[in-house]
Amino acid sequence: MPTETNEPNKLDKLIALCKQRGIIYPGSEIYGGLANSWHFGPYGAMLKNKIRQAWLKHFVFSRSDMVMLDSAVIMNPKIWEASGHLQNFTDSLVDCKKCQKRFRADHLLEAKSLEPGYSKEKPIDLSQARCPECGGELTDVRQFNLMFKTHIGPVEQEEAEVYLRPEMAGMFIDFKIIQQAARRKLPFGIAQIGKAFRNEITPGNWIFRTREFELMELEYFVHPNEWPKAFTMWLESMKAWLKSLGVKDSNLVFQEIGDGERAHYSKRTVDIEYQYPFGQKELYGLAYRTDYDLTQQAKFSGQDLSYTDPVTGETFVPHVVEPSMGLERTLLVVLLEAYHEEEAPTAKVGETEMRVVLKLPKHLAPVEVAVLPLSKNEQLSELSQTVAELLRAQFIVEYDATQSIGRRYRRQDEIGTPYCVTIDFDTAQDNAVTVRDRDTMKQERVSIPELMAYLTAKF
Ligand code: GAP
Repeated sequence: MPTETNEPNKLDKLIALCKQRGIIYPGSEIYGGLANSWHFGPYGAMLKNKIRQAWLKHFVFSRSDMVMLDSAVIMNPKIWEASGHLQNFTDSLVDCKKCQKRFRADHLLEAKSLEPGYSKEKPIDLSQARCPECGGELTDVRQFNLMFKTHIGPVEQEEAEVYLRPEMAGMFIDFKIIQQAARRKLPFGIAQIGKAFRNEITPGNWIFRTREFELMELEYFVHPNEWPKAFTMWLESMKAWLKSLGVKDSNLVFQEIGDGERAHYSKRTVDIEYQYPFGQKELYGLAYRTDYDLTQQAKFSGQDLSYTDPVTGETFVPHVVEPSMGLERTLLVVLLEAYHEEEAPTAKVGETEMRVVLKLPKHLAPVEVAVLPLSKNEQLSELSQTVAELLRAQFIVEYDATQSIGRRYRRQDEIGTPYCVTIDFDTAQDNAVTVRDRDTMKQERVSIPELMAYLTAKF
């Protein structure tokens, strides 16, 4: 039976597979690990890189109105004062008086199907709630700032306090310099991929919520009247992006976020939610940030961040639409969609066995082509190495000569390799190889001179 995306134990199976195959595994493991920290091994690092490249292609390189930025993780702390993060980037927190465990108040409310969300003016009533772990009494709600604080230089004094960025923000700070240096007219956008840090109260669900993660986000600057059009355009673009990753529409929910539940800077937010095995939760966010950021940064820096339209002469502070996407959540969804268990024929006629296969979109596969000599025979090895070298000019190739061919196919299926090229004893005679398709498992004989063109057409 094929597995469904939201099948409860699918996540456990995926986590086990990713550990076994060196895709994702616990961080700092030789020291007993560090809670909720994950390392992305060779195939995981490759997958992330492919997602970054695909994201840049979709959201930046295929358009004429986008540029890139790589700003610092540690910036002047005044930026966070201006952005409102020091004041408002908080979660409501409660502790259990009995077992001392900490919970996000909104998660408790959600779990108990009480009113979701909260506003600072209207304190949350958690009087009915008890600790979900031990049933103990809970403390009053207090606010907890999610920013990671550190110090510049050797002295840990207040003047040296800085923060690791909780979002990119550099696009607002550099708006003027980029607009002028890249000679851009509105509307245009600035995109950035980089690490973000949040001292989450309840990280968990594998790579879904961590304290260190990567953001792929862009700020799109428009005339104040133009934001609704831009909002719709980016929502459509995000839908197309998810489709290109192989995400099924039926697993997505588009959630309009109500007043009082949006981030402090947003006048409109649509969350794109996904049906994870652990419930329906946020995947991405799209926010209309008004002129909030540029106005605030102009006020705190004393710099003019307005824009003058070269045609109309109108001067105004641009408004901003922001699509924001987590890289690890993207990877999680891609893996959940790709994970399949199915019956597959074995070498014995009429017999089948269960195979696990990652049916990744081909352009995201960490290994694109596996070259597998049928035996370790010297002549076959030499020929296989030559074929592998030939293909490396265009593809990411893995050469694997160990174990039976059946086990090697299974291994490549489990890391999502779209094509396996097998070199056998006939190859020396007919100058041809067997190409096996990951999804159909069909095999085709292809001559070596035509192999590159054959595979190129498949991708
Ligand atoms: N600049 C807007 C912003 O940061 P957000 O909704 O707080 O908005 C954007 O975060 C995206 O970053 C989310 O939609 C999610 O994909 C990802 N994300 C947020 N917190 C995360 C965490 N703790 N771990 C992993 N990904 C996270």
